[in-house]
Amino acid sequence: MATELTQTILPSPAYTLAGIKMLRDQFAREMVGMALRPYQVELSDRIIESVFAKAGDEIVALWARQMGKTEALALTGLFLFIFYPRITGQGFKIGVFGPKYEQAQNLVERMRLRLSKSWLDRGECWTDTGMRFSWVWTDLPGQPVSEWHGISGSKDAHIEGPSFDLLYLDESQDIEESQMKTAIFPMGAAKMATRVLIGTYKPQVVNFYFYQRTMEHGRHLSKKPWTVGAEFSDEYRRYVLQEKDRYGEESEEFRTQYSLNLVEHKAFFISRPDLLALRVDELPTDLEDSNFVGIDIAKFPDSTVAECYRGKFMSKGCLVDALELQGVNYEDQVLLLKDFCECNRAKVVVVDSTGVGDPVVDMLKRALRCRVEGLKLTLLSKDSIFKNLQGEMLNRRLFYHVRPDRKREVARFEDQFLALLREFRGAYMDCHHPETRDAHDDYCFAAALAVEAARLQTGFIYDFLDTV
Ligand SMILES: Nc1ncnc2c1ncn2[C@@H]1O[C@H](COP(=O)(O)OP(=O)(O)O)[C@@H](O)[C@H]1O
Ligand SMILES: [Mg+2]
Repeated sequence: MATELTQTILPSPAYTLAGIKMLRDQFAREMVGMALRPYQVELSDRIIESVFAKAGDEIVALWARQMGKTEALALTGLFLFIFYPRITGQGFKIGVFGPKYEQAQNLVERMRLRLSKSWLDRGECWTDTGMRFSWVWTDLPGQPVSEWHGISGSKDAHIEGPSFDLLYLDESQDIEESQMKTAIFPMGAAKMATRVLIGTYKPQVVNFYFYQRTMEHGRHLSKKPWTVGAEFSDEYRRYVLQEKDRYGEESEEFRTQYSLNLVEHKAFFISRPDLLALRVDELPTDLEDSNFVGIDIAKFPDSTVAECYRGKFMSKGCLVDALELQGVNYEDQVLLLKDFCECNRAKVVVVDSTGVGDPVVDMLKRALRCRVEGLKLTLLSKDSIFKNLQGEMLNRRLFYHVRPDRKREVARFEDQFLALLREFRGAYMDCHHPETRDAHDDYCFAAALAVEAARLQTGFIYDFLDTV
């Protein structure tokens, strides 16, 4: 039966999407012996639509634990692996990534083993090197070839792959964000690959890109809490109710992994769409020509970062330049910061300060002819500068310029803002980077201090300043 199905399918431009989806259902029933649940079908449909349209969509799925994420991806992937070449006459390459190699491998292996042995033996080859496996499909001579690569997404793995048509990132919440952006995504760029980020929330946030994407809306987001899975499986319902007893319904564990609620006091400072709306490739032409600099001085292991703001507080402004200094002694830092302020013709400079007599602030005051203020970061002053910054950003009064020669700084600025957390302590808003290694917030503080410098110039209300 199984081999018959594959043999009846010949390349034909006559396949409609509806026909392809029906074929997927037939494949699931006859060759794998499994029926996808409706919410799994919905996701599988989205993947198939994007792949055949070569739309290059990013599909994000946030499902509760044990809802059948891996099964849904594996079945859809296997279907495309076998049938895409038969339908289109072209080869198909799938790259599967997980936080660890075993997860990437597990994704197809579980399903592969359900296929009948006689079918598996019909000319496929299989290699396993411990870091990656490749499955190359060559059942019909002269036909295009499919490849399936399961690769570890961990930071220690040296990963390098071919160009894929479809990228799967299983357990995305645990994949290292930098690895995802610099190593995994580029493997889909050449072929307009569809990529699927699937995972579950956890109390500890590691991959902010994934979290930010799950908070957006639209047809490419699939969000399914445990109650959706419980409708289709009694066994699953019983399992979750047990987990609920174990952790408690209001526990962080249960709320994040099953109800899919991010714990509120750890909310993000800004959402991805709100941040990206402020990104400009051309400098706005209607800015007031006044410049202000904010400087966040390094506390080990961070960097010193300076941001330059041009414009008018409460009206319109743009971050136009940034400087990051790492591992430079304080005397040299002062010289470089002086240059930065002078080149940008700063009118007011605000520097974070440890208190009266802060040596860096004093050196900058002596070195610069403009107004230089030290600002001690207390719960009260942080609350104020970040509320002002948030007001400028959410009301679309503050933009940031992607200067061609500052791309690296802009990328770091964006990464830090997307990970920045906002926590309430009583009435005060406290902003800080998450508790993960590699997390920084220097660009965020420098931006907040630059806006504060602009605010000082206008003398605009709330003169709370704890200046020293
Ligand atoms: N459509 C389905 N029909 C029957 N069982 C399923 C289906 N989807 C998933 N399962 C089973 O549910 C369990 C959890 O699935 P899995 O894909 O590992 O979930 P997740 O990746 O979300 O943790 C597995 O035992 C799997 O075989
Ligand atoms: Mg899984």
